[in-house]
This record gives sequence, structure tokens and C-alpha cells, in this order.
Amino acid sequence: MCGIVGYIGYQKASPILINGLIRLEYRGYDSAGISTIESDGLSIMKDKGRVRNLYDLDGIDDLKGTIGIAHTRWATHGKPSKENSHPHQDNSKTFSVVHNGIIENYNELKKFLIENGYKFYSDTDTETIPNLIHYYYMKNKNTGIQRFLEAVRNACADLKGSYALEIICKDYPDNMIVTRKDSPLVIGKGNGENYISSDIPAILSFTRDFYLLNDFEIVLLSRDEAKFYDMDLNNIDKKTKTIEWDATSSEKNGFDDFMLKEIYEQPTAIRETIGSKFSENSKCEFEELNFDKDFLSNIKRIYIVACGTAMHAGLAGKNAIEKLCRIPTEVDIASEFRYREPLIDDKTLCIFISQSGETADTIAALKLSKSHGAKTLAISNVIGSSITREADYCLYTHAGPEIAVASTKAYTSQVILLVILAIYFAEILEINTEKVNSLKKEILTLPKKIEETLKSSSQIEDFAKKVYQEKDIFFLGRGVDENVAKEGSLKLKEISYIHSESYAAGELKHGPIALIEKDVTVIGIMTDEKLVEKTVSNLQEVITRGAKTLIITNQKIDESMFDMVINIPKIDCFVSPILSIIPLQLFSYYIAKEKGLDVDKPRNLAKSVTVE
Ligand code: AGP
Ligand code: GLU
Repeated sequence: MCGIVGYIGYQKASPILINGLIRLEYRGYDSAGISTIESDGLSIMKDKGRVRNLYDLDGIDDLKGTIGIAHTRWATHGKPSKENSHPHQDNSKTFSVVHNGIIENYNELKKFLIENGYKFYSDTDTETIPNLIHYYYMKNKNTGIQRFLEAVRNACADLKGSYALEIICKDYPDNMIVTRKDSPLVIGKGNGENYISSDIPAILSFTRDFYLLNDFEIVLLSRDEAKFYDMDLNNIDKKTKTIEWDATSSEKNGFDDFMLKEIYEQPTAIRETIGSKFSENSKCEFEELNFDKDFLSNIKRIYIVACGTAMHAGLAGKNAIEKLCRIPTEVDIASEFRYREPLIDDKTLCIFISQSGETADTIAALKLSKSHGAKTLAISNVIGSSITREADYCLYTHAGPEIAVASTKAYTSQVILLVILAIYFAEILEINTEKVNSLKKEILTLPKKIEETLKSSSQIEDFAKKVYQEKDIFFLGRGVDENVAKEGSLKLKEISYIHSESYAAGELKHGPIALIEKDVTVIGIMTDEKLVEKTVSNLQEVITRGAKTLIITNQKIDESMFDMVINIPKIDCFVSPILSIIPLQLFSYYIAKEKGLDVDKPRNLAKSVTVE
């Protein structure tokens, strides 16, 4: 889950590396370090804490090397400490290595290496890697770069688990080797220089041309070249892919935090995601899909599989697909799906949603579905990310880079994409034509209505100031509003550290109402005309027990019952989550700000969860 940066070129590497790490810090932020090749061998500088601490390390300004590797860690093995920080070196300090992922057989490898005279100085799984490379290096009779390549290849062949690796060696001051398995890694091609990163935005200001690495590919980098090999060290031909994102889209642009910026980017993100997929009078088209009536009529079941917020977007997708297309659809948490022996066959369509496209559980669930013969469709925000390359079909949300750990614009873009996908299916199946046509009109009004919804910001801020010290907050809704309650509750937990629960409003009296006492805050979401009265009755039950209430609604209600009512624009229930979540995103944001917390980098979390 960490961030990896590398540089090989003609400029001083250390500022490029530290800058890249700062951009990647959302991926992991308990410690950081860099290693460069200097005239007298490998330098190594690292410490626990945030990336900016690197600037205070003695000697960091004296580094002159033009080749280096860097890492910001999200610890899996061993607590955050200087010793456990990356880069790690072998005992003879011939190799420096940074690693993202988990080496599952590290105990076995460590034992083997100790038996062969190696010593260990950290608690990490990673430290086995430089020592194992060194072990194979010493055994190798080859000369030249082949010796380095073979040592890395042999070591990788012994690794079980996941890894993205950058390796430099003091004996080859003009080269670097990188490789990956189940962890992201890209190479940005410059002029006489190459940039390496676990994530495109970190190096987007240097280049738009990227090589996207597949599992088990080994890359030998020099300043002018990137040579690609398979695990047998046969050459692989690889072309660059040009990324259209604008580098400034990964800057804060005057906002205090990325999260706030990304909340405000939602009108644009939704516009981009809708793109030219349809107009009021034309049928929905996806260039990337060639589904026809035969194909869809043959699909007996759909699974939507994802984690966290992406899974919540999946719930809105289920609602639209089942109601518009009448195809049974289940939503699964990826970490459960992969172990619950789901009923998958060649009549199953599995849709995987992942903002990063690198979530380990989602990728594993995708691989499992493929192995059972399902058709697989990936929805991601990151061009060329792992799930997009694994799946049979792929759609992009086009929300632009999302940096804040708490997902906002990616969620709303996923919801709209899923609803448009449901429309596409319904049009092919030729059902619900009238409903589909009116929904299309509604969708085109969304960007404007999001802008309007964002105007509730100061009202929300006021309410947040009243309740930011609370210990528990409850979210209630029915139907699509229950899905939004789930997402609102997750957002609040993530960045404000306030305990929160979400419930289907009608379920409250079957237990959770025991937790409601005087002054507990309850948030109700009501956007479905058919259910509004029912939810109002459930809210009445908590008001009777002394709860404070905040209501997000676009329905006519008796506002005097509630402590605060946020009115959002009227819109079809299929897409109302895109509006009703916005006040809740802002609510979490303002509470976290009021508590003085780091909104973009909440404790214990990381933006992309590349471990199981
Ligand atoms: C969202 O706010 C969370 N940080 C988290 O739940 C996230 O949605 C989840 O980890 C899935 O990530 P992905 O979309 O990149 O797969
Ligand atoms: N497993 C390694 C460690 O704990 C790498 C963790 C990461 O990906 O940041 O050091």
C-alpha cells in the first residue's frame, strides 16, 4: 500500500524522489526513505514519520546521485521505526531495495538466509529481498549486467505474495531494476531519463508517456532505455501509453485539502463520466463494450464486487440494474466474495469496481470469477490499472486523479457510470423504454444540481460545529437512501474517527434503537417519494427518545420536527445518491477540520489497499 518513486537520469535524484513521495504520501505515511547511487557507493536515508522529515536528515542536501529509489511506508510487518523503514539493504550493502506488498513466505526465506550467514536488522518481510538477491548474486558466475538481472530474477522466483520492487546495486551505477507481482508500478519515459512510481499522478508533471508493467515483468532501466523481460529473461516488446490527465489536477489548486477540492470537482467529474455516452435523443453507447441482445439475454446473474466506498456505489448499481433490466444482481464485498464459493458460471457477469484499480481483494475476486468462466467487467478511475488489464471489458470513470484517502468524486462517478450501464443494458434488452428515456433527461441535469447541492456547505459547517465532539452518530434511510447512509457513515468514521452506524430506517426498532438516548445525533436521508413517510415515522421514534436530527431531503416534509433540514434538488431516485451524499461528505469534512485532524491522510488508512 506504500508509495514508490524512482529516478534514473541526468538530474540530481533526491529532490525528484522526495517530491514524488510527497505526492504519493496518501498511499502510506508512517515512514519514508530514499537511497541513491553516489560516487562512493549507495547512500541510504530514512526515518519514521512523514515524508517531509526527510528534509531534516543530516546530509540529505549533499546527495549528488542521479539514480535513486524512494518509499513511503504503510507498515504490514514491523512497527513504524527507522529500522523498519525502506529502503532495505543486504548485509554487504551492495543492493538497496524498496518494496510495496507482503512477502508471505518471508519466515521461511529468513530462516534459509540466516542458515547461510545473513543477519537481519529489521522486523520487516522486505529485508529478506536484498539479502536473497545478494545470495544469488554471489553464486552467479556471469559477468556484466546479466549477473544483476539473474540475481533479481532468481530471488523473485522464490518470493510468494505481492511485490512491486525497485532495486539498485552499487556495482551497476548506471542501472536500476524494477519488477512487480500484484502491486502497482509504472514507468514514465522522459528524455534521457526514466521515472518510476506506484501511481501515475506522482510523476505526471514530468511525463505523459508511461509503460504499464504486468505481473512478473522485469525491467532493466538505464537513462535512455527501458528493457523488458519475462521471468525467463526473454525480451518483451512494450509500447508506451499516453495519459491524458492534466498534471495540475493532482494539485490542491487553492483548496485547503484534496478532499475538499475533490468534493467540489464533482460537477466536472460527473460531466466527464457521462461524456458523450448518450444524449436525450440517442441511445446509450459504450465504445468499449460490444454487448448485444443475445449476450445480455444469456446473463442469468450479475455480481458487483468491490470494497468500501466502491462497494457502496455497487449498491446503487444493483438498484438500477435490477429495476431497469430485471437481471438478478448481487453486491459483494470482495474480501468475502473470494472465499464464499460464489455461484459463478459462464452465464454470470461479474462487475468489479475500484477507484485505484489496485485493490488486492478486488483483483483476487476478479481472477477467481474469470477462472470459473464468468464474463468480467472492470470499472476503474485509473487508466491501465491492474483490474483494467485483468478484466474482459473495462470502463473508466474519468473522475480525474483522486488523492484524498476518503473517496468522494470517485464514488459519485461510479454511481453514475453504473446507472448509465443499466440504461445501456435496458436499451439493448428493449425494456422499460419510457422510464429509461425520462431517466436520461434527468441525468443530463445532474452537474447543475450538484453545483446547487454544494451551496449547502455553510449550513452543514454550522451543524458540524455543533456536533463534532459527539461519540456516536447514526445514519438512517430506506431504499437507495439506506445505501447513502452506509457511505455517509463510512466517510465519517474514516476521517473524523467518530463511531457511527448506518441502518435501514425500518430496522431500527429491531435492536439499535436501544442505543438512542438524549442528544444522540441521527442523520436521516429521504429522497424517495414512496418511502418518505415511513422514514419520517422512524425518525419520529428517535426524536421521541431525545435524538438531535439532521435531515437530507428533496421531499416535502414538516421541517419543524427536525433540528436541521438540508434541502437538495429533486431528482430521480436512481441517481439521487449522487446529490444526497454531498452534504454528508461535507459533514464529515467539517467535523474532521473542527477536530483539527489531517483530512487527506486519516490514521491507519491508505489510498490503495494492495494487501489482503
Ligand atoms: C473510501 O473512502 C475508502 N478509503 C475505501 O473504502 C475505498 O473505497 C476502498 O478501499 C476501495 O478502494 P478502491 O476503489 O481503490 O478499490
Ligand atoms: N511489507 C512491507 C513492510 O511492512 C512493505 C509495506 C508497504 O507496502 O508499505 O515494510
